[in-house]
Amino acid sequence: KLPNHIAPSILSADFARLGEETAAVIAAGADQIHFDVMDNHYVPNLSFGPMICQALRDYGIRAPIDVHLMVKPVDRIIPDFAKAGANTITFHAEASEHIDRSLQLVKDHGCRCGLVFNPATPLSYLDFVIDKIDQILLMSVNPGFGGQKFIPTTLAKIRQVRELIDASGREIRLEVDGGVSVDNIAAIAKAGADTFVAGSAIFNQADYAQAIAKMRQELES
Ligand code: DX5
Ligand code: ZN
Repeated sequence: KLPNHIAPSILSADFARLGEETAAVIAAGADQIHFDVMDNHYVPNLSFGPMICQALRDYGIRAPIDVHLMVKPVDRIIPDFAKAGANTITFHAEASEHIDRSLQLVKDHGCRCGLVFNPATPLSYLDFVIDKIDQILLMSVNPGFGGQKFIPTTLAKIRQVRELIDASGREIRLEVDGGVSVDNIAAIAKAGADTFVAGSAIFNQADYAQAIAKMRQELES
C-alpha cells in the first residue's frame, strides 16, 4: 500500500478567494489538491475548468493537482487540463465512449491517468485497462455536490479494488471521494484506500491544519 495522501476538494473552498484557500490547505498539510470539474451535463452542477487550474498555477500553487472530470464528452478537455498544469486526470467510466483511448490520451499528454466509479458502477470496467492506470477513484456519494453523506456499501467495494490492485502488482493509488470525515477515514483506510478526498470536512472547519492533523491521527491509529 502506498503512503496515505489527503486531498482537499477545493469545491468546498470560498471561490472568491480560491488562490488563498488553496495555498492555505497546502500550508495546513495537504498532500495534493482535488479539483472537481462539473459540466451541468454529466452531473447536475457547474464548477470550474482549465482556466481556473491555470490561474492556481499562476498564483504559485505547486502541489500536485488531481483533476476529477465529471464531464461528457471526456476527451476534448483532456489536453487543456494537461496544459493548465494538471498532474493526474481521472474520468468516469460511463462518460467516455472509448475508455482505453481516453486513458491513453491522458498519458500521451504527460499526466497520470485514472478511472472513476460511481457507487453503482461495476468494477468490470477495470478488467482490460488495469495495466494502464495509475489511480482508481471510488465515489462514496453520487457525483455533483459536496457535503453529502458517505454511502457505507463503498467499504466493500474498496476492499474489492484493493485486492485487484494487489493482484496487479502495480503502484495504483486507491482514492475515495465523498463524505470522507474524521469519523470514517480510519475505516476507509482499513478497507484499503490510500488517498482521501475531503471537501466539507476540511473547508467547513475554522482551522484547516487541525482538521488535516486529526485525519492523519485517525490514519495512524
Ligand atoms: C462530488 C465531488 C467530491 C466532493 C467532496 O461530486 O467529486 O469531490 O466535492 O466533497 P465532500 O468531502 O464534502 O463530500
Ligand atoms: Zn471529486
